[in-house]
Amino acid sequence: MDNPASGLLTSSPEFLALKQHFESVSSLKMRDQFEESPERFEQFTLSETDLTLDYSKNRITPETLSLLSDLAKSRGLSSAIEDMFRGELINRSEQRPALHTALRNFSDEPVFVDGKDVMPEVRSTLTRMKEFCWRIRNQHWRGFSNKPFTDVVSIGIGGSFLGPKLASQALKPYWGKKINCHYLANIDGSNLTEVLQGLNPETTLFIVQSKSFGTQETLKNATECRQWFLDNGGKESDLPRHFTAVTANVEKAKAFGISEENIFPMWDWVGGRYSLWSAIGLPLMLTIGHENFRQLLQGAYEMDCHFRSAPFEENMPVIMGLLGVWYVNFFDAQSHAILPYDHYLRGLPAHIQQLDMESNGKSVNTSGQSLDHNTGPIIWGGVGSNGQHAYHQLLHQGTQFAPCDFILPLMTHNPVDHFHELLVSNCLSQSQALMQGKSLKEAEAELSNSGLSASEVNVLAPQKVIPGNRPSNTIFFDKATPKVVGALIALYEHKVFVQGQIWGVNSFDQWGVELGKQLGDQVHGALLAETDGLAQQFDASTSGLIKAFRSMKNKL
Ligand code: F6P
Repeated sequence: MDNPASGLLTSSPEFLALKQHFESVSSLKMRDQFEESPERFEQFTLSETDLTLDYSKNRITPETLSLLSDLAKSRGLSSAIEDMFRGELINRSEQRPALHTALRNFSDEPVFVDGKDVMPEVRSTLTRMKEFCWRIRNQHWRGFSNKPFTDVVSIGIGGSFLGPKLASQALKPYWGKKINCHYLANIDGSNLTEVLQGLNPETTLFIVQSKSFGTQETLKNATECRQWFLDNGGKESDLPRHFTAVTANVEKAKAFGISEENIFPMWDWVGGRYSLWSAIGLPLMLTIGHENFRQLLQGAYEMDCHFRSAPFEENMPVIMGLLGVWYVNFFDAQSHAILPYDHYLRGLPAHIQQLDMESNGKSVNTSGQSLDHNTGPIIWGGVGSNGQHAYHQLLHQGTQFAPCDFILPLMTHNPVDHFHELLVSNCLSQSQALMQGKSLKEAEAELSNSGLSASEVNVLAPQKVIPGNRPSNTIFFDKATPKVVGALIALYEHKVFVQGQIWGVNSFDQWGVELGKQLGDQVHGALLAETDGLAQQFDASTSGLIKAFRSMKNKL
C-alpha cells in the first residue's frame, strides 16, 4: 500500500477536523483551564523510562489530543514506526533503512538489512570499542614514548561532532580522571589552534570521525593534526598508535593512512545525526567508560521500547511530536525553543538543532510533491537561567509564537548552598509566567500600589502587560545520569520521526546541504586563483566579496 503520509496532509478529513477544532479552542486561556480543572497537571503528565513530561501548559483540551492522535493514525504512524525498527527502506531517496535503534537493541530480536542480521556486527563493534577503551584507560595502549594517553581529539563535524560532544559534556560528572576529550570540527585555524594548544603529541590520541570519510572540514583537520603530530616528535611508524577512525568508508580511511585494525565501522543505515550510539560515540566511551556508555544505550533502548509499544495517548515522543504539529500547522509557530536548566546539558539545543532541522527542514514529500504546509520549525535555545537575561523577553512579550521545552534535573550533581532551588524556581516560574502572563488590570494595580499617579500608570501599564497563554513542556527527571541522557536524546529522535511522518517528508536524507558544498569548491578556486578573472563568473555580490578577500590577502 502506498505510504499514507504521501497523500496531501491538509486535505485529509483528520486535518480538517483539527482545523475546525482549532477555531473553537484557540481563544481558550490556559490560565482559565487550570482554574476550571485542578487536576490538569495529573491529566497531562506522563512518566516513562526515567523521564516525566508535564505537557499541561499547552493550548489543548482532551479533544485536541484525540484529534491529533486520529491524524497520526491517518498518516500511518503505527506502521511507520514498525517499518523503522524492522529496517524497511524508509530513507527512500537513498534507498536505505534508518536503524540507529539497532545500535541500542538489547533484545534478542534480530535486525535484518539486505536479508542479513546486523546485530552480530553491532555487538562485535561494541565489544571492540569496549576493549579499545579499556586498553587506553588502563594504560595498556600507550603513545610512542610509552606514556599513557591523557587526551583524545575527536575530529568530526555535524553528527560526527554534535552528538558525542553533547553527551560527553552532559556526562562530565562521569568522566574518569584519566582522559580529557577535545572536539575539533570547524575548518578554522583558530579552532584547530585552540584544540592543539597545550597538547602533548606523545599522549594524544586522534579519532577521525566521518561516516563518508569525504567531508572537507574533517579531512583537512585530520591532515593538519597528522602533520602537527609528525612535526612534534611523532614518526610515520607511530601513526597507528595515535590515529584511529570511525567510518562507513574503510577504503578511504586506509588511503588516508589509518591502519585497518584501528578503523571502527559505522554503517550507511545509520544517519550522521543519529550516530552517537555507534562507534562515533568512542570519545564518549573513552571518557565515561564502557559501563556508563552502556547505560546511555540502555536509556535509549527503554525509550525505543516505550515508543514502539505505547498507545499514542500515552506515548511521550508521539505526544511531543503531535504538539509540535499542532503549533506549526495551526498556530503557525515558526520556531521551537529548547531550554535545559542544567549546565551540563547546555549542548542539547545544538544537537537537537541538527537532529530536527536536518531531518525535517524540507518542503517536498517523499513522493516529490511540493508541500502546502509548514514543516520543521527553527530550533533554538540555550541554558537556563542565562536565557532569562538574553532572549526570554521575546518569549514573554514578543510577537513571535515560540513553544518551549524546559528540561530540568530535580537533583544537581554539584549541590552548592541553595543554588539548585533557585535554578529550579527560575525554571518553573518561567513556564508559569509564559502561561499566566500579566493582564492590563494587574499591571495597573501593581503600578498604582507602587505610588505612581493615574497618568503615569496609564502610560506605563501597557508596557508591562505580559500576554501569557504561551505554551511549554517541562521534561524533568531525578538526575542527568547516562541512562537519563540516553532516554532524553532518543525521545527527541522519535519526536522528530513522528513529525516527519505526519508531514510526509524523508527525515533521513539531507540533500539540501549539497549545493553549498558544490558552490564552495568553485568559490574556493576563485579565492586562490592568480588573478581576479575567475571572480567574474559569479553574481556581483559573490564576485565583490571574493575580490574584497583577495585584495586583503594581497596586502598581507
Ligand atoms: O551536514 C551534512 C552531513 O552529511 C551531516 O549529515 C553529517 O553528520 C556531517 O555532514 C558529517 O558527515 P560525515 O560523518 O560523513 O563526515
